[in-house]
Amino acid sequence: MSTAHLLREFYNEMYRIHTQPGSVYDIGDHLYHLTVHKHLDQDPLIQFREAFRRVDQSGARLIADAGCGYAGFAVFVARQAPTLAVDGYTLSDVQQAVAHQVLARLRLSRSRVLLQSYDRLERRYDAVVAIESLGHSPNAAATLRHWARQLRPGGVVVIIDELFRPEVPPAHPEIQRFMQSLHFSLLLQRAPVEAMVRAAGLSMADWVVLSDRYHVHTRPDEECDRLMHAYQLGGAHQGYIGGMLLEKFYNRGWVDYVLLVLTPDRAASR
Ligand SMILES: C[S@@+](CC[C@H](N)C(=O)[O-])C[C@H]1O[C@@H](n2cnc3c(N)ncnc32)[C@H](O)[C@@H]1O
Repeated sequence: MSTAHLLREFYNEMYRIHTQPGSVYDIGDHLYHLTVHKHLDQDPLIQFREAFRRVDQSGARLIADAGCGYAGFAVFVARQAPTLAVDGYTLSDVQQAVAHQVLARLRLSRSRVLLQSYDRLERRYDAVVAIESLGHSPNAAATLRHWARQLRPGGVVVIIDELFRPEVPPAHPEIQRFMQSLHFSLLLQRAPVEAMVRAAGLSMADWVVLSDRYHVHTRPDEECDRLMHAYQLGGAHQGYIGGMLLEKFYNRGWVDYVLLVLTPDRAASR
């Protein structure tokens, strides 16, 4: 099965779980219900706010949301700056269908959600935003090169993701298990990411450790182990196993939650 197919199933199944009766996670008009990312300070909008600020500072009018989930970022942007347009890209047909309903209900006609890989952006954009989605790329270096090529002059790429500390060995069995359970192809770490950024003709304009500014809620290791065991027995969605491992990695200081701002290299854009 291709990576794209696996990811489609992964996110479609996650939606089915989130919308089971009794789940606190249902799809309403509120942005709170339109995120698939982690909640910093128990506030689901922090990533959207942080990414929007960077995009807005750059003067962007047309934005690609690479890995858009239920289009929560597009809804957020429309509320802050109704003249901006967002094209969301997702591999999940269920996410696309839900996002279409939400955009229609809120009459946000400037934004669209495309069932298409972010490795094939349809147009050139002033900004590419990727919140917790780059790790899914089968070839992150190629993905960054593509995004760099699709940027209009003066454009920016804003990435928010988990960046692992340099001392964490990608081959560690728990890391391998984490990556498999979340369908990540690459462990994001600063040195390889910086090398890929340079090779894509981009420069690192900013690197902000959001997990220093905001609280990432984790439970003690014993609680994570207990839950992980219960999830395994209950045949839970693989994403829950990955989530538990990630909490343990935060407890160990193995990982930071980081915002990156990338701009075209001056030399490359000449
Ligand atoms: C963890 S979710 C993040 C969703 C969203 N950014 C948010 O903050 O709510 C990851 C998203 O990336 C998308 N994704 C992963 N690989 C992709 C690809 N190659 N092309 C388009 N979307 C992709 C998934 O479909 C999913 O919507």
